[in-house]
Amino acid sequence: MVNGPEIVRARDDLRARVDAWHADGAVVGVVPTMGALHDGHLSLVEAAKRDCDRVIVTLFVNPRQFNSASDLATYPRTEESDAAKLAPFGVDALYAPSVTEVYPAGFCTTVSVAGLTDVLCGAHRPGHFDGVATVVTKLFTQTKADRAYFGQKDYQQLQVVRRMAMDLDLEVTIVGCPTVRETDGLAMSPRNLKLTDEGRAAAPALAREMRTMALQLRRGEPLYALRGAAVERLEGAGFEKVEYLELRGAEDLELLERAVGPARLFAAAWLDGVRLIDNIEV
Ligand code: PAF
Repeated sequence: MVNGPEIVRARDDLRARVDAWHADGAVVGVVPTMGALHDGHLSLVEAAKRDCDRVIVTLFVNPRQFNSASDLATYPRTEESDAAKLAPFGVDALYAPSVTEVYPAGFCTTVSVAGLTDVLCGAHRPGHFDGVATVVTKLFTQTKADRAYFGQKDYQQLQVVRRMAMDLDLEVTIVGCPTVRETDGLAMSPRNLKLTDEGRAAAPALAREMRTMALQLRRGEPLYALRGAAVERLEGAGFEKVEYLELRGAEDLELLERAVGPARLFAAAWLDGVRLIDNIEV
């Protein structure tokens, strides 16, 4: 049996380790997660292992990025099996701090990225990206990582983190990695675990519709000509609500009607009371 990574709970313990690694000239990578690890997270770990001498995975369900108490309460917490999944990868530390280790009494600072966070998930989840930017800044300073790995599944988050690292002169290289999908096309997410069997069977319709739309957009068709029918088909497949289905610039996330230049199609939709998001390159 392969031993799992060492679980570190205290910031100062982690820092002592990272200082020693840096003193040896090691490049340190971090994979920030909220746990419930799936193959998407493990692909980030693989990328970090390829590029870095030492790899830290963080596991922290960040209360500040949830804008619904019930979403936070029901978010999967699976530390033991997460550690077991990491065992074959030779990760150097699993940093799983408590809420007070990250946000001690009196904590009153928020990191907020303007503009990029006004749209898509930012418009529908007030405060979400402030919570993400704040915790990611803390995780960067606590781990002192040289490189950090994020999935393109949360593409807006990736752009927000890139902008924040640039604006704050954080000495960390942000690496974006491709979305990992189930064989039926559904983008991997801890939230998929919340779907009923029926919901899980219907869920791949989202990626399917998006792929079809991307082909049509690439041919030069405008979004307004495609959107209505796609929403109708998703609702027909069992989705309760399509929150957004938008074409945006890949860098600035500006709204587009046609695919001119690097563009991505973004969607958020509710199924079984679960909010699923996805995005693909157009
Ligand atoms: O993508 C996530 O799992 C979270 O938003 C992150 C980056 C770990 C911050 O809590």
